[in-house]
This record gives sequence, C-alpha cells and structure tokens, in this order.
Amino acid sequence: MTEILEPLGEAQIAVLVSGEARGSNMQALLDACMEQRIRGEVQVVVGTRAEAPALARARDAGVPVHVVSPRKYEGQEEAYAEALLRILRRYAINLVCLAGYLLRLPEPVVAAYPYCVLNIHPALLPLFGGKGMYGKRVHEAVIESGMKVTGCTVHFVDNDYDTGPILVQRAIPVLDEDTPETLAARLLPEEHRAYVEAVEIRTSRWLRVEGRRVVTYHP
Ligand code: GRF
Repeated sequence: MTEILEPLGEAQIAVLVSGEARGSNMQALLDACMEQRIRGEVQVVVGTRAEAPALARARDAGVPVHVVSPRKYEGQEEAYAEALLRILRRYAINLVCLAGYLLRLPEPVVAAYPYCVLNIHPALLPLFGGKGMYGKRVHEAVIESGMKVTGCTVHFVDNDYDTGPILVQRAIPVLDEDTPETLAARLLPEEHRAYVEAVEIRTSRWLRVEGRRVVTYHP
C-alpha cells in the first residue's frame, strides 16, 4: 500500500517518556525548536511516572508536563488511550514523539495520528528491535552479534514494537573495545541528530510511504 504524506508545516509536538527516562532526546527536540532548526514547538511532555528526570528537565524548560500512569489503567487500554488523547487534543498536537517510551502505544492513539507518531530506537532496525529490546540489552545484543556497525532509527509508529516505516537512520562503527555502555554513549549524539532530522523532514517534505520504505516525494 502506498501513502502520500503532506508536510506538517509547523510541528506542535508532544513528547512521551516512560519511567526513568533521562530526557536527552526530548532536550534535543526542545533545543532544535528553540533554535528554529525545527519549525514548531514542544507543547507538552507526558510521562508515565512523576519521578522521571525527563519531566524535571521539561519543567525547567517551562514546558507543561502531565503524568498518565499506565498502571492506573491496567487492563483498560481504551481508558488509557482516552487519557492520552485528551491531553494531545488540549495542546492541539499534530506530532507525537516517543523518546524513551517503552510501552506499546494504545491503538486508538496510533489511529488518531496516522504517520504522525515517531519513535527512536538505538539500533539499525529491523535488526535488534521488538518487545523487550531496549536500553542496554540492545547494545549487548549488537556486540554479541559481531556486527561492525550499529546505529539508531527514527521510524513511524504502528501497532507493533519497532516495525513501522523508517524515516531516518544514522550509523556508527562498533569498536573492538566497545562495551554496551561506551556504545550507548557514542550513539547518543547521533540519536539526537537523527530525531531532529526526522522531525524536520516530517514538517517540511512530501513523503511517499511504500510498506516500510519512506521516500521523498515531489508532487
Ligand atoms: C534512547 O536511547 C532511545 O533510543 C530509546 O530510549 C533512550 C532514551 O534516552 N528509545 P533519553 O531519555 O532520550 O536520554
């Protein structure tokens, strides 16, 4: 199936983060908006737990913060989705950026934002993705695999883990002396660049999506 996507123009962004998220990708998006490398603004940050360092960073930057605890809605996906959607509508959001949000986004949220939910994954998808593949585990698996390159992927979110069409990837070498920690640390600045680039592409370019493939389109 082929989909043609119009550029969003101004991005009104909601960043979603889980539990312990540091918020460095969120910060990269905030900085890029402030420096006008992205046309738009981060309007709200939504976390799953009040203690997340990312939420403190967002408050410091003067961005409204909300906490919606999935635990509170256990077994009630519709209600969890509605709680998220209420916030997204309130801030007139047109782009949802998952940045260290480790859960599967409820289907009604994905359906309400077709090709307008992005996620960043710290590996070159479709390798090293899927449920439970996050954080240190990804880099351990990369090193164990013997691969000589790794990277990060920004992709559209669909109803599964890490399977949506790929918008941007950036690669780095895996060095002989790398540990999961050194690899993660060297990759992080590339993640920030990739996320900003992906948002910039979604706001300013026409795109054609063919299955998992996203290409620039000239109408
Ligand atoms: C990043 O490594 C990202 O790829 C993954 O979660 C981590 C979030 O880091 N999805 P931060 O909170 O943005 O620093």
